[in-house]
Amino acid sequence: MERADTLFTPVDLGKLSLKNRIAMAPMTRTFSPGNVPDEAVVSYYRRRAEGGVGLIITEGTFVNHVAASGYPNVPAFYGAEALAGWKKVVEAVHAAGGKIAPQLWHVGAIRRPGVNPGGDTPGHSPSGMAIPGKVTGHAMTQEDIDNVVAAFAQAAADAKDIGFDAIELHGAHGYLIDQFFWDGTNQRQDGYGGDLAQRSRFALEIIRAVRAAVGEDFPIIFRYSQWKQQDYSARLCDTPEALQAFLTPLAEAGVDIFHCSTRRFWEPEFEGSDLNLAGWTRKLTGKPAITVGSVGLNADFLPEDGTADFKGAEPASLDRLIERADRNEFDLVAVGRALIANPDWANQVAAGQTGGLVAYEKKMLHQLR
Ligand code: FNR
Repeated sequence: MERADTLFTPVDLGKLSLKNRIAMAPMTRTFSPGNVPDEAVVSYYRRRAEGGVGLIITEGTFVNHVAASGYPNVPAFYGAEALAGWKKVVEAVHAAGGKIAPQLWHVGAIRRPGVNPGGDTPGHSPSGMAIPGKVTGHAMTQEDIDNVVAAFAQAAADAKDIGFDAIELHGAHGYLIDQFFWDGTNQRQDGYGGDLAQRSRFALEIIRAVRAAVGEDFPIIFRYSQWKQQDYSARLCDTPEALQAFLTPLAEAGVDIFHCSTRRFWEPEFEGSDLNLAGWTRKLTGKPAITVGSVGLNADFLPEDGTADFKGAEPASLDRLIERADRNEFDLVAVGRALIANPDWANQVAAGQTGGLVAYEKKMLHQLR
């Protein structure tokens, strides 16, 4: 459709060229028995590539560390079998004309003993806390930190070898990297704790190690969020100046594209300006930014926890999206739940056929389709 042209024209983000501005948001689906993505997972991503998505960001896939995994049947990103499964996913997406990045993940303190792989290993995190003030797991030693940094670097190198087009580091939502960022869960006295610059050291080491592993030309996407799943009102940065101080070192360490996780893309990030988090990130760093949050969902039905059933879908949100895309507020938009409900969401919106879109319902998560 003409009015959505900005979303559906090819875009060149430096190291990454895409056929349009639509990304699939990373969404954990727990359909990988034995932590191996199988044919059902291949088909699931193939359908979204056939459906017109320019860049698929996979569900979080955990790196090779004993405490990286937090939920059953999540795909691993190491080991011959899992990597062979991922290679099939990449080939299917490429054959359908799409591009794809794995979201590399370590859950940190969110992990509970008993989840495999990892068995009885407790959650690992900066200060042993998933929730501020409550120590329930293991505070990472320097050796733990070095091992996790190396695991991210290895995963990134493997992603490049398999043929992925980029990688995304999961630095958002209160998982391990974010547990270091957040003062509520990082009370370390060593060089990994202190002010936000010091709390960023772990992320910076990962980004530098990943960059060294993949070389200069391979795109690194970094996902971050102000909000935490442990506290939706948490904020890392209260002002544009603080955000700039936070993001600049990450960009200098090697981030090519920031993925700015918000729950409603139309919400202004700071008082006195209409710019959302991606808009600010783009403005402050000069790097491309991905926006996300309730695209294709009806704002009137958005529940506070962001995950409940939706009764209605879309038009208000789509108009807002096009308006903001036309203003160049962001480079890409990630679509999550609307793409679970409609594998061909991108093609339908591009063709102006929004009347055929199905509303997302939570029960759709019960199967992979
Ligand atoms: C998510 N989200 C998410 N985010 C992330 O960074 N890694 C992940 O593995 C997941 N997993 C996940 C599973 C499910 C079922 C949902 C619904 C969401 C968050 C997701 O990427 C996105 O930011 C939000 O869903 C908001 O976008 P939508 O759904 O409003 O378009």
